[in-house]
Amino acid sequence: MKEKIINLKKEFLKDLDGVNNLGELNEVRVKYLGKKGYIQELSSIMGSLSIEEKKEYGMFLNDFKNEVNELLEKKRQELEELELNKKLETEKIDITLPATDIPVGTFHPLTRVIEEIEELFVSMGYDVVEGPEIELDLYNFEKLNLPKGHPARDAQDSFYITEEVLLRTHTSPVQARIMEANKDKGPIRIICPGKVYRRDEDATHSHQFTQIEGLVIDEGISMAHLKGTLEIFAKKMFGEDRTIRFRPSFFPFTEPSIEADVSCFKCDGKGCPLCKYTGWIEILGAGMVHPNVLRMSGYDPEKYTGFAFGMGPERIAMLKYGINDIRHFYTNDMRFLKDFNRIEGSDE
Ligand code: PHE
Repeated sequence: MKEKIINLKKEFLKDLDGVNNLGELNEVRVKYLGKKGYIQELSSIMGSLSIEEKKEYGMFLNDFKNEVNELLEKKRQELEELELNKKLETEKIDITLPATDIPVGTFHPLTRVIEEIEELFVSMGYDVVEGPEIELDLYNFEKLNLPKGHPARDAQDSFYITEEVLLRTHTSPVQARIMEANKDKGPIRIICPGKVYRRDEDATHSHQFTQIEGLVIDEGISMAHLKGTLEIFAKKMFGEDRTIRFRPSFFPFTEPSIEADVSCFKCDGKGCPLCKYTGWIEILGAGMVHPNVLRMSGYDPEKYTGFAFGMGPERIAMLKYGINDIRHFYTNDMRFLKDFNRIEGSDE
């Protein structure tokens, strides 16, 4: 019996030595410790032995069983560690490799300028609203004091879709829409950014461009409010030292109408090529809302007055950043977009 156990132990050690992975280890475990394994087999032989022999060999067999268990467990840990190391070895990441350059997107220059202008007016209590780009003649012209046949319609070469529907030529129709929609006919303070369309194209004109419209309606609104508002705008966009001036102009929907100039930020008003040696740069059109326009949208011009302005963010951006061709904004040339980000400093 003793001999059998000693031989079995030798065989076990040999088997264990030949084990290369966890699967093989399990086979060895079953062979020795399984229900039909060698150790179980020896245990059953034990039943036929005398009490003396049982005592002697029983202990011996038990020690062997414990040893088998211990050695199997040790081997299991060894194999697991080995497998982990192998995995770590093959899945190693080389952190010294140069990283792949992932191009990061940024906001379009025009979006930045529009947002900057929006933020300024929102900080003064304005709401930002939008209107449709496909517009009725009614809002684009008629309710703005431009009846059919009015000569000033020609100044805005329009894309007509039908006789009554066109691509809006300016953001001013939103004035009429907002005034009309305002049920209690009370005060209004809005700006409206959006795309507009005209049959025009050269270095400073595009068939599609953007405008930002401003409209303030309340009791007692005067030109002084318009001037104060635009002065804050000019200083924020072009620098604290800027001043503005008004020149008389004409728009059918405002009376009086003006064009606003900002003192040249390049030469400080002394005269340079940017301001064509005048010291002043035109930035927008504006005026006091025409009484006809108020009346057509249900406002009483005896009670309410208001001012409106319309500016081109492209023009503001071109002036501010020295961009010489409006088409740069729409052709998506990466060199231009990257250049612009360098000037602005990309913090997004
Ligand atoms: N809508 C005018 C334009 O497109 C600009 C403007 C807006 C003028 C509001 C006065 C008041 O030229």
